[in-house]
Amino acid sequence: MTNSFYSPMKTWVRSDCSRRAMPREAVAESKTADRLVNKKKIKIMVEPHHPIPDHHQQKPWWESFFDEVYGQDVLDRLDEEKTKAQVDFIFRELNLKPGQSVFDQCCGRGRLSIPIATQGCHVTGVDCIDTYISRASHKSRESQLACEFICDDARQFVMPELCDVVINWFTSFGYSADDADNIKLLQRAYESLKPGGMFALDYVNMAYVIKNFQDRHVHIDGPDCSNSLVVIEESEVDCVAGMLKSHWNFFLPDGKRTRRLMKVKIYMPYEISSLLQNCGFEEIRLFGNVLSDPITLETPRCICVGRKPA
Ligand SMILES: C[S@@+](CC[C@H](N)C(=O)[O-])C[C@H]1O[C@@H](n2cnc3c(N)ncnc32)[C@H](O)[C@@H]1O
Repeated sequence: MTNSFYSPMKTWVRSDCSRRAMPREAVAESKTADRLVNKKKIKIMVEPHHPIPDHHQQKPWWESFFDEVYGQDVLDRLDEEKTKAQVDFIFRELNLKPGQSVFDQCCGRGRLSIPIATQGCHVTGVDCIDTYISRASHKSRESQLACEFICDDARQFVMPELCDVVINWFTSFGYSADDADNIKLLQRAYESLKPGGMFALDYVNMAYVIKNFQDRHVHIDGPDCSNSLVVIEESEVDCVAGMLKSHWNFFLPDGKRTRRLMKVKIYMPYEISSLLQNCGFEEIRLFGNVLSDPITLETPRCICVGRKPA
């Protein structure tokens, strides 16, 4: 179990440090975490933990977090089976049909836009990272799909022609401590839909995260640590700001290292439902995973589906 924002890696390994219950200061200062993986002992250097105060950040965290390292080493490596299950959920629960139009809000590198377009929908993907948009456009041109990708701020972008379905997937929401800023995404989704159109927001199940909280865990992608991507994620709950904060320490196969901070607002599932309802959505349903299971303390995702009144 993990409190990770995502489950990006093929292999999940619980951190030794969390098992040893080391004091946080000791973990932060220790600089070294030892792992036994596939019977090989590996040594992972960890930078000292220096929390970044919000007021020192010049620009929103996501503008530096979502770079080529994250794009290539996380988004592009996501399990194809899991992506397929997400696409199946979208077609099934949003009653999406080939020929209909879809707005993929915060589309990243087109991970979902491309397979949805492959099934005959016209997809518009919007993301604020220009390299992600270039990559998605290139992939859709190669496959001659009915897709367009636009680099823009999704808090402002509204579809020029109203569409049948809007999706916001894989924790692309709740990045600000300010509710009004987060709600803009839901409002733009609502304004982009035809009457009767469907919306799905895929978010973290914060009830699950709090119940299973781990302040540190290690993700390893690949069979052999020496040639794999290793990510050590250090998480903390900011009870005052109501934010779940996570430092991602990337150890790349080429030996390079990066450290970056991600933050999302602690919205419980019932709060996510209320946010959609307050934007005007109706027939709101909550799911705990893409198998359409009900949301509980044991399901990692909070997928909220709503309909714009006809
Ligand atoms: C975790 S990634 C998910 C990408 C994609 N939805 C997927 O499932 O693969 C979050 C994405 O949201 C985008 N994003 C965050 N805030 C945004 C905003 N205000 N406008 C446009 N894109 C945004 C980021 O650039 C990033 O590509």
